[in-house]
Amino acid sequence: MRDFLDAYSIQYWLESCPQGYLEGTEYGHRPGEKEPELLLDDPTLREQAISTTVQLVVGERCALAASSGLINAAPDEASRRFLATQTLDEARHVEIFTQRLYDLGVKKSELEDVIDAFANPNLVKFAEILLEKVDKKDFVAGVVGQNVILEGMAFHVFEMMHATSEKLNPKFAHTLSGTIADERRHVGFGENRIGSLIQAHPEKKPEIERMQRDMSYYMLATFADRFRDTASREEVQRMRREAGSDGAGSGTWQGANLADLEPEEMERLLADTILGEFKKRLARIGIEYQTPARP
Ligand SMILES: [Fe+2]
Ligand SMILES: [Fe+2]
Repeated sequence: MRDFLDAYSIQYWLESCPQGYLEGTEYGHRPGEKEPELLLDDPTLREQAISTTVQLVVGERCALAASSGLINAAPDEASRRFLATQTLDEARHVEIFTQRLYDLGVKKSELEDVIDAFANPNLVKFAEILLEKVDKKDFVAGVVGQNVILEGMAFHVFEMMHATSEKLNPKFAHTLSGTIADERRHVGFGENRIGSLIQAHPEKKPEIERMQRDMSYYMLATFADRFRDTASREEVQRMRREAGSDGAGSGTWQGANLADLEPEEMERLLADTILGEFKKRLARIGIEYQTPARP
């Protein structure tokens, strides 16, 4: 077992990430892999994929701003170095998901307009709550907001997307799997580093609990917008049908066969999985989970 300093060192990051699971990849996937024709040839499906990918870019840009912003707020050298590795991970995530937008046909000159047009306002609000803490150089709240809440959410969203795209879109699934491995490291840091700091600053708890409740609310509101959109639900069903009769449409996640679930059931499964995880992780660092309102 590596100790805390080794597990979050640059040496460990080099060995496990760039020289490990990312070796030989190209923008996170295997060289030469392409988006499926089915997706590129169908304007509605393509727009759907662009819209989904924009949310990933928005989330990753927030993580990049937060991890880099927290470096100079960190109280110790080991955390600063870990956050430097995380900053590069997040910059890479921004880059690979932006590259996916280009692969889906977004022109470089249109990038910011496309992001503005598709960014979910509730996700933007979620990001603003976190970045406000980072701007104030509030390390404890910033790490809880980023490495527990934002990345706890991202981890499960990516895993669910990975399960649904593994057979339909291996390129995207491979892009996601390196990202999932990175997020696992980031979430681990949040939990390991922050417990002792919260013990030392119990006066910060109420504010952090409020932040968790507010960020959770905007996360649920984002999911509600995405899953309750009828147009997109019909498209997903159609894509599953067109993907073939061999049941290759969707994989298994959290014990459920995603192909059998209605969008509302998927929304509930995703939300409950993430909130359950928040509760567990927050308890370990001494924060009392606050139930958000349901949008
Ligand atoms: Fe990320
Ligand atoms: Fe991350």
